[in-house]
Amino acid sequence: MGTKVLITGGAGYIGSHACVALLAEGYELIVLDNMSNGSPAALARVRKITGKVFDVVEGDIRDAELLDNMFSSQSIGAVMHFAGLKAVGESCAEPLLYYDVNVGGTLNLCQVMREHGVGNLVFSSSATVYGDPATLPIPEDHSLNPTNPYGRTKKVVEDVLFDLVSADEALNKPFWHIAVLRYFNPIGAHSSGLIGEAPHGIPNNLLPYIAQVAVGKLETLMVYGNDWPTEDGTGVRDYVHVMDLVEGHLSALKKLVRGGRHGCSVWNLGTGIGYSVLQVIRAFEQISGKAVPYEIVGRRAGDIAACWADPAKAKSELDWAATRSLEHMISDGWRWQSTNPRGYE
Ligand code: NAD
Ligand code: UFG
Repeated sequence: MGTKVLITGGAGYIGSHACVALLAEGYELIVLDNMSNGSPAALARVRKITGKVFDVVEGDIRDAELLDNMFSSQSIGAVMHFAGLKAVGESCAEPLLYYDVNVGGTLNLCQVMREHGVGNLVFSSSATVYGDPATLPIPEDHSLNPTNPYGRTKKVVEDVLFDLVSADEALNKPFWHIAVLRYFNPIGAHSSGLIGEAPHGIPNNLLPYIAQVAVGKLETLMVYGNDWPTEDGTGVRDYVHVMDLVEGHLSALKKLVRGGRHGCSVWNLGTGIGYSVLQVIRAFEQISGKAVPYEIVGRRAGDIAACWADPAKAKSELDWAATRSLEHMISDGWRWQSTNPRGYE
């Protein structure tokens, strides 16, 4: 088996943190990223944090020839597939682009993996595949009903991965070992403050928006509705520290490779605890010592009231549980934002 882990999307937010966690555990890496939302500077910082070197290929997951060359020339044994587009609003305006990158890019990757005999794959899915949950907390066998094109691309990829495994089952030696990880709301940053979330333009997500208000880049946070059926009327989410999240990837990879788990397994990666928008604002103000002025406005299209994980399956099968508190997430995220107010620019 190949010795390196290919990290697609390694120059992005979660991928760069995964690189740090993998290098710290002694894995060898190769990163593939087209830099559409990632930054070479993030990878330079990964090298600084870990003191380790690794190859970076700037290119697109849809480029079959490039992937074929990479798998021919490098000793790749497993893939963590983070590369993709993730903005819900943009996916509604540009569905073809989203299906092309997220679905087409993954088909291309799987095709080349198959041709080169590499069957170990950890895939970044999202809690968005559950849609508006019928029950809380959400277990992995909850029905899937994504409500936007981005979420549907994740669901289609999940379906494809299950179909690959079904086709495989007739074989004596099953080929695919796949982990589908459904992330809840990743936030925070590496404790060094050297890498973190650096969204291009105005952030869509709550935490980077709050951080940019606190640092003076944006004026006022818009809180999307205080009439949701939650304790204080604002939306409730399961925020999970990005380092906990990437440690979940390491546990999944070990299960697939060392544990020899074949087939396609799904695990939620969340804490199992929900916090409201107002609770997050208050915690952020306390930790940063900065005021976060906000205004209650109407609900955002496509939002849901509340969403949090049942993380029991990951605990029992991967021996993984998130350990970092909301305060820890905010404090690490604030260290990154306050020392890098312009991200990697
Ligand atoms: P990100 O945008 O920071 O990272 C994605 C990386 O993929 C970027 O560096 C980008 O340049 C790269 N990329 C995009 N299209 C590419 C292509 N065609 N070829 C090669 N590289 C390409 O996003 P992230 O937050 O790190 O998310 C990583 C993965 O996790 C994504 O698949 C996303 O859908 C999923 N996810 C993220 C969240 C979240 O809240 N951040 C939640 C659930 C799931
Ligand atoms: N919110 C605001 N103001 C903002 C941004 C967000 O009030 O400026 C509220 C939202 O209404 C929601 C909560 O803060 O109640 C969290 O919103 P985010 O946009 O940070 O996160 P979402 O739960 O809407 O979605 C995120 C990712 C999706 C992913 C999903 C589940 O954007 O891609 O988590 O993992 F699928």
